[in-house]
Amino acid sequence: MVSEKIAQLINEQIAHEQYAAQYYLSMSAWFFAKDLDGIANYFRVQSKEELMHADKMFDYLNDVGGQIIIGEIAKPPHDFENAVDIFEKALEHEKKVTRSIFNIVKNANDEGDFATTSFLQWFINEQVEEEASASQYVTKIKMVCDNPSALYLFDQELSQRVFVPDTKA
Ligand SMILES: [Fe+2]
Ligand SMILES: [Fe+2]
Repeated sequence: MVSEKIAQLINEQIAHEQYAAQYYLSMSAWFFAKDLDGIANYFRVQSKEELMHADKMFDYLNDVGGQIIIGEIAKPPHDFENAVDIFEKALEHEKKVTRSIFNIVKNANDEGDFATTSFLQWFINEQVEEEASASQYVTKIKMVCDNPSALYLFDQELSQRVFVPDTKA
């Protein structure tokens, strides 16, 4: 059984993940409008992954008997300065999500809620990967953004990304 406080934090995190999905979808739309369909695809897959994260938390909260309360999702921004701006915002957002997950882990630790800390271990590892790849893409987009041929290849590279659904038992 999960405490009300932890349940509330997880409910808030579900909303954060859903907001991230909307945010990335908005970024995806920006790139589609610029005919950079490969980069748009990358952000669309990001968006789907965030929804999967929300689902994982939804299932966990249900498993531990917490009350699931679906929160309000704010409208994400849609007018971005340029491609670099978007990748930088994506990295910033991942850092924010990491801090928020750490905060739940900290609270769960204080309560001796080892089920939640164990569950969130997956997310901690995921955030390490997310920040590493987001940071790498900031570097890459800065390298290619002023060179059409390089940007074309970068767009091709990102078109290869596919969504892999979570296969939890
Ligand atoms: Fe996430
Ligand atoms: Fe993420």
